[in-house]
Amino acid sequence: STNREPIGVIGTGYVGLVTAAGFAELGNEVYCVDIDSEKIEGLKNGQIPIWEPGLEELIAKHRDRLHFSTNLSDALEHARLLFVAVGTPPTYSGDADLSAVNAVVDAMPPSDQHALVMKSTVPVGTGETIKRVFREQGKAGFRYVSCPEFLKEGSAIKDFLEPDRVVVGDDGDWAGDAVVELYAPLGAELVRTDIKSAEMVKLASNAFLATKISFINEIANVCEETGADVVEVAKGMGLDNRIGPKFLQAGIGFGGSCFPKDVTALKQLAGNSGYHFQLLNSVIEVNELQKRRVIAKLEKHLGKLVDKKIALLGLAFKPNTDDMREASSLVLSSRLQAAGAHVRAYDPVAEEEARKLIRGVSFKSTALDAIEGADAVVLVTEWPEFAELDLVEVKNAMAGDLLVDGRNLFDPGQVRDAGLLYEGVGRASSAAHQEV
Ligand code: UDX
Repeated sequence: STNREPIGVIGTGYVGLVTAAGFAELGNEVYCVDIDSEKIEGLKNGQIPIWEPGLEELIAKHRDRLHFSTNLSDALEHARLLFVAVGTPPTYSGDADLSAVNAVVDAMPPSDQHALVMKSTVPVGTGETIKRVFREQGKAGFRYVSCPEFLKEGSAIKDFLEPDRVVVGDDGDWAGDAVVELYAPLGAELVRTDIKSAEMVKLASNAFLATKISFINEIANVCEETGADVVEVAKGMGLDNRIGPKFLQAGIGFGGSCFPKDVTALKQLAGNSGYHFQLLNSVIEVNELQKRRVIAKLEKHLGKLVDKKIALLGLAFKPNTDDMREASSLVLSSRLQAAGAHVRAYDPVAEEEARKLIRGVSFKSTALDAIEGADAVVLVTEWPEFAELDLVEVKNAMAGDLLVDGRNLFDPGQVRDAGLLYEGVGRASSAAHQEV
């Protein structure tokens, strides 16, 4: 359509930039605002502060439609819908930190012609609180819409353009209609509901997916005890339509900016409102323990890890991102160092981010450099390039022969054929090999 509505986007982090680029692709003029002037200057010059496949190209393609400013009035002047995509990091208590969201609310002028469209993940009830604050601040005409974001890092553009569903929670006024209209060209399933339910859809979806991962990780741990292979088990389970094949990959736990934070936030939200959410406690605990099982697998073969050389392949919380937030590699590398091991690591893109968070690790510029002379190799992040490694070359470069596959990336048979010992997650084939 020719008459696309201009929009504002407040916050140029992951969600904000992808939302901005996505709507620009749909033909909207987009007015991006951020308080970080350095970031805005960079964006004006085409510098993208995050690593996300396709994002830089999309922003370059729509340079004429994307406007960057530190001045909120630029967005208010041109757009009536202001998407809020600021951070809501966890506080010490596990509750979401809403200070950035509240600052945006306070900065809004009185208006009958604008609406906040909340993309940031917020606790259930935040929308109602914000509407009350608007009334108290004499800004009762300001509309509010909840429009949670479900994009995955690494496939964020595709997730924006081909969402499984669009969720719009509103009071049934012009603002909700306008948001529905904005997303209409995507032809996605629409769930239009009240604000609280929309807020809950986001938290519940992430908590459910995290539960699925912790569940399959516990099945994997039982597989290790009983001799079943979790990869086969997941395949058999996933073919049941009610279960589905996705998010059944056992590994060394989930990380990232969303799952750990949102599971904890929902647990806190439940607790604060008087309900003890039992299941989520376990989901979190299983995830913590899962990261540490790698240490036990190393010790099983190497004994004490003092002065052992351990190579970590991959550091990012998952492939196709440089995001290190809550990455399993953080716990793993510090645990290994505490046990006296020498840790060397290689990640195709996350090294710069990792250097900010991890101390004492020797960063290498190729996988083979990290592997050279290692007593054991741990596959931490399943970057596609690791699947291409010549396993015989790996074996020859190592001092030892142990490969701990934290993401079940490799075929155990091929690893064995290369003369390596294989320890996957929930794969009995490795145990069988050791008995031979
Ligand atoms: C997630 C949600 O998928 C997304 O809808 C939400 O908007 C934000 O949080 P993201 O954090 O980008 O997205 O990554 P995702 O691909 O979902 O993976 C999260 C973590 O779970 C990763 O650490 C990944 O390694 C792990 N994971 C995922 C598994 O261990 N097993 C699986 O089967 C799937």
